[in-house]
Amino acid sequence: MSQQGSRTTADPSVDGDGVNRASERDSTERAAIDVDGLELTYSDGTTAVQGVDLTVPRGEFFGFLGPNGAGKTTTIKVFATLLSPTSGDVQVNGFDARSETRKIRETIGYMAQETSIDPELTAEENIRFACEAYGVPSGERAERVSELLSLVDLADVADKQAEEFSGGMKKRLDAATALAHRPPLVFLDEPTTGLDPKARNRLWEYFLRINDLGTTIFLTTQYLEEADQLCDRLAVILDGNIVADGSPDDLKREVGGEVLAIELERGDGVRERATTIAREFDAFADATVSETEDGISVTSEVARQYGTDLLVALRDAGLTVTGFNIRAPTLDDVFLAITGDEIDTAEMPDGDRGASQ
Ligand SMILES: Nc1ncnc2c1ncn2[C@@H]1O[C@H](COP(=O)(O)OP(=O)(O)OP(=O)(O)O)[C@@H](O)[C@H]1O
Ligand SMILES: [Mg+2]
Repeated sequence: MSQQGSRTTADPSVDGDGVNRASERDSTERAAIDVDGLELTYSDGTTAVQGVDLTVPRGEFFGFLGPNGAGKTTTIKVFATLLSPTSGDVQVNGFDARSETRKIRETIGYMAQETSIDPELTAEENIRFACEAYGVPSGERAERVSELLSLVDLADVADKQAEEFSGGMKKRLDAATALAHRPPLVFLDEPTTGLDPKARNRLWEYFLRINDLGTTIFLTTQYLEEADQLCDRLAVILDGNIVADGSPDDLKREVGGEVLAIELERGDGVRERATTIAREFDAFADATVSETEDGISVTSEVARQYGTDLLVALRDAGLTVTGFNIRAPTLDDVFLAITGDEIDTAEMPDGDRGASQ
């Protein structure tokens, strides 16, 4: 499949004489996304995004993380020209998000948070419809449809109505429709939410495949492991502001030290008491102490050195430690350190959990 990504498309900045003029131009022209001071206030007065600055180079697999309500979908909708920025400068594929909305729409794919396929149409019809809507020339449509069905492994069920599909199949079909016009930039808004690990893995393969072909990907996700596995670079948004960005490894390094994860026997107020004890522990004065699902975690340069002392202190206070380990920080720890809370993935719909095909 030949995508129109940066690695395969003729570079518009190379003139007829073969001379690359890019260096003479504003470098923003070459970025997939370039945003300066984006603010978005809804008509009810809610400011969902306040002062976002962001550059995503072409070809990058970029992750946009944040808790519920942080402003991820709002930001994507501005990039996809479904919302007009309240203020700030937004360039997508070199086009202005206020004055060149049509050009942006022609050069992006958008997989919305809510699946947008038509359940009454078959897989093939859904993709054909997307090709028509995106203006794929009629002579090319049949080939494009079969190419996309194969890309997401739905060729065998091309004639089945989408309403008969599992959650994973619907997501794959939705992803295929977002790629109908071979956009060089694709927005994926929580594309794997509600899917089981197998279905999620399959989607990851497709996303990596299209990224390998040169497509820039802008992904939001609630699954930090997903971001870790897929993304070259990440930004974390909190209350409409970007509060951290870098490669997954950079962000983990910034957390610093090691993480002592302590599991505690459940009980009323147990985690709160353990948190207080850890925070009052002299050696962990500079540590990040957070409650986790099973107990608490203490992130510190001296986690290894003083971990056992803390375990003893917890035991002396009458708390029962059921397990512990010391490990390098993960993106979950990055998220905890930044937001003070674990990312909420508890709202996976049960009905979709078995939907691996
Ligand atoms: N149409 C709207 N009108 C008013 N406020 C809105 C509207 N849509 C979203 N918001 C508010 O804007 C803020 C950001 O919402 P947004 O949907 O962008 O968050 P999100 O990061 O995508 O969250 P989630 O992880 O739940 O999808 C929230 O406070 C939300 O309530
Ligand atoms: Mg959202």
